[in-house]
Amino acid sequence: NYVLDNMNIVPESDAVIQTNDRSYHFGDGVYEVVRVYNQTPFQLDAHWDRLFQSAQKLDMNFTITADELTKATMDLLEKNQVKDGAIYIQVSRGASPRNHLYSREETPIITGFTMSAPPSKQQEGIAAWVTDDMRWLRCDIKTVNLLGNVMAKREAADADCAEAILHRDGLVTEGSSSNLFLVNDGILYTHPATNLILNGITRQVVIKLATDAGFRVVEEAFPKDVLDHADEAFITSTTSEVTPIVEFKGQITAQMPIGPVTKKLQALFKELI
Ligand code: PDD
Repeated sequence: NYVLDNMNIVPESDAVIQTNDRSYHFGDGVYEVVRVYNQTPFQLDAHWDRLFQSAQKLDMNFTITADELTKATMDLLEKNQVKDGAIYIQVSRGASPRNHLYSREETPIITGFTMSAPPSKQQEGIAAWVTDDMRWLRCDIKTVNLLGNVMAKREAADADCAEAILHRDGLVTEGSSSNLFLVNDGILYTHPATNLILNGITRQVVIKLATDAGFRVVEEAFPKDVLDHADEAFITSTTSEVTPIVEFKGQITAQMPIGPVTKKLQALFKELI
């Protein structure tokens, strides 16, 4: 098994991560997870765009081009013979003696690895744990600093839930590693792409699919009590695609079937990939 180590493809056992890497000290790095279907990365350019945006928002000295990233990605997929799976790419701001104050001259360190396709819960759906969003105010940046997400995911798992659905002061934001959609009377609702959520690539694809299929999509924040009486709910992400929620637990208790709108979007998504 090979990995990407500072843009070089090396055997995993030969990879060297420096103890001075700022992503270790401060979580000072950004990343992307890209799905691979039949040897082809899905929405690769959109992922690179978001990676560049994340790096730019953090004032990183990131000068690698999308073409260079694509080449490294394709080489690694080929080397590991990934047909269906995913690739993780991380950009650390750099490595230097620990200091909160970063220099704008840091040289970013790009690492990556491939993964097998995650097990799907798209047929049976998942239970979701409704809890407080304790993250910072720049959730639009896809940073490796994920403690708020990590802690919510553990809380959810301890309650036998596959995902945590987060709300900030009563307004639902997103999942710990996914975006949330509700369906009521055939209309889709999801949080707008502000600083309070990560604007998921899958989210954007699903909004387009839904709109093209004639559904109304309302991008507005809604209170968590609305989860109580949703006709349908589902999460979207690179790894979970379109996964139905059949039960809310925690601060909201509700059950719902896997409805026709969710099924339709699952089918449209399958057609696309
Ligand atoms: N997570 N919101 C959060 C907080 C996420 O971490 C993710 C993705 C999403 C969905 O984004 P996308 O559709 O672009 O995957 C939304 C990835 C998969 C992860 O951290 O593993």
